[in-house]
Amino acid sequence: MKFGILTGGGDCPGMNAFIRAVVRTAINTKAQTSVWGVVDGWRGLARNDFRRLDKLSVAGLASKGGTILGTQRFPELADDSDIQETIARDLHDHGFDYLFVCGGNGSLKASAIINAILRREKMRTRILFAAGSIDNDVGNKYGSSIGFYSAIDKSLQMLEWIRDTASSHRRVYIIRSMGRESAYLSIFAGIATGAEHVIRPKEQIDIEELASMIEARDKDTRIIISEANPLTLDEIQQQLETIFRRRKIKRDVRTVDMSYFQRGGKAAVTDILRASWLGYRMVRDAFARCDSGFYSAFYTGHAPDAVPLAEVADIEASSSDVPDYLLDFMLALH
Ligand code: F6P
Repeated sequence: MKFGILTGGGDCPGMNAFIRAVVRTAINTKAQTSVWGVVDGWRGLARNDFRRLDKLSVAGLASKGGTILGTQRFPELADDSDIQETIARDLHDHGFDYLFVCGGNGSLKASAIINAILRREKMRTRILFAAGSIDNDVGNKYGSSIGFYSAIDKSLQMLEWIRDTASSHRRVYIIRSMGRESAYLSIFAGIATGAEHVIRPKEQIDIEELASMIEARDKDTRIIISEANPLTLDEIQQQLETIFRRRKIKRDVRTVDMSYFQRGGKAAVTDILRASWLGYRMVRDAFARCDSGFYSAFYTGHAPDAVPLAEVADIEASSSDVPDYLLDFMLALH
């Protein structure tokens, strides 16, 4: 059989472990399998940019951050049916039996669309998809995304570093977290480190109330703000400083942006194991001639059935809002 592997959207730790697992499982199961990496994600696929992968080319990759195949944003793909049709036709003409994709919501939608064309035209290739995103907003009804726990690990480390200075100076730190429209990363990082407050994407914060909370603490305060909240770090800092002056609260405010640091670096062991498990499972299913589908797992060894791509690409399968009981959980740890 002929396999392709594509990493799409924002890179995340665990993508390399996924690539390695697909290559190794494929070749160890059937040595004659040819496995090709798609260079630069969907943009590379549109220009048929492939490179042959063997067991040696994925050696030592399990914990390495980013993606060795590269991933370039390709927004045109979302609405351009010519590009979508051409990609489907090229996959078929190149003789790919399966394309293994690891990526976020954009990649999931692209996979569902191209898969529908492949089926409609009765073409050869099937697409198997694994959720990979630090945002944990991809079909999260079915499980969490590869990369999410690594990003929490990175965030925790940074938030603990910030605590050292914040507590030494009794300062207030306003800290930006990635996560796009999703609150998962900011809330989980907040729970892990014991942040005083996490401002969610759609939350309208009462800055006077925030100032009162800070005043009552008389020590360091770390407030995480989710990426999609429209308030900037500078705006919150200025508004707090104005209130502090008026209310004669003596507290310095500083700002930090964790964003891209949350996405890079080594994969957490949870992500290495889960990404490897998913890669392994997907290849086994491919050899059994499975249909296209979305794969997820809560833990290594968990093997729910794959879900049809179109079903998961539907926004209902994901939620950006963290359930209320998790907010209660966070508050209970203060
Ligand atoms: O989806 C992952 C993510 O890191 C989001 O948290 C963020 O909104 C986005 O990608 C940033 O994308 P880019 O790297 O293209 O700036």
